[in-house]
Order: sequence, then structure tokens, then C-alpha cells
Amino acid sequence: MRKIFWLLVVVIVIVFAGSAFAADGKSIFTNICAACHGQKGEGSPIAPALKGNAFVKDSDIAAIKQVILKGRSGKDRKHPNFPADMPAQALSDGDAEAVANYEKNDLQK
Ligand code: HEC
Repeated sequence: MRKIFWLLVVVIVIVFAGSAFAADGKSIFTNICAACHGQKGEGSPIAPALKGNAFVKDSDIAAIKQVILKGRSGKDRKHPNFPADMPAQALSDGDAEAVANYEKNDLQK
């Protein structure tokens, strides 16, 4: 019985830790996107600002997610004045959704 109890505890902790991480768009942004787009999305010499960005403002979550997961290169680029492409980001669907929501909402405040 005791073993089953501890096994359950471990499973529950793993499930909650996983969903807490998946929902945290801010920490994903800070850890991955900020290197190019700036800590507060203010932009940098290598990537455009995302705060006040027209594409972010006018697009739905699905379109923003698409840019995050596929990146932007070649003919798709909208800011060819920046030196390099936006690389595709290796995020799960849930994490891409969380960071897209963070960008469209909290980051704009
Ligand atoms: C290696 C640098 C780099 C990283 C890391 C990066 N980006 Fe980008 N991102 C760019 C560049 C460069 C562009 C502009 C591409 C173009 O010419 O359209 C861009 C464009 C975008 C756009 C479209 C903006 C517009 O005006 O059309 C969004 C949205 C975006 N990035 C979100 C993110 C998010 C969210 C992350 C983190 C998950 C991220 N980026 C990580 C470099 C980066």
C-alpha cells in the first residue's frame, strides 16, 4: 500500500509540474525569445520589437504560433533589414500557445 501511495504522489507532482511549466509563457519568453527580441519585447539590432508590433496586434493566436514554430525565412520575411532569419523554435504546441498569448496580451501592457 505504501508503495502505491508514493507512486501516486510522484505521478501527481510530475503532472502538475509539467502543466505549470507549459502554461508559463513569460518564462519561455525570457529564456528563449528575449535574447533576440529584448527582455520586454522592445527589440534589438537582431530582431524587431514585439511590444506594439502591428503583426502581433492584428494576428490571432494561431498565426502568431505559426511564426514561432516555423520561424521566418526567405520570401516570408517581413523585416529584411534585420541581419538573419527568425529560426523555427523547438517548442511543444502548448508552450508555443502560452508564449503567443503572453506576447499578444501581457507583453503589450
Ligand atoms: C535568433 C533570434 C530570434 C529568436 C530566438 C526569436 N526570434 Fe522572433 N524574430 C526574429 C527575427 C529576425 C524576426 C523578423 C523576421 C522577418 O524578417 O520577418 C522575428 C520575427 C518574429 C515575429 C513576427 C514579427 C512581425 O513583425 O512580423 C514574432 C511574432 C516573433 N518573432 C516571435 C518570437 C517568439 C515568441 C520567440 C520565442 C519563442 C522568438 N520570436 C524567438 C528573431 C528571433
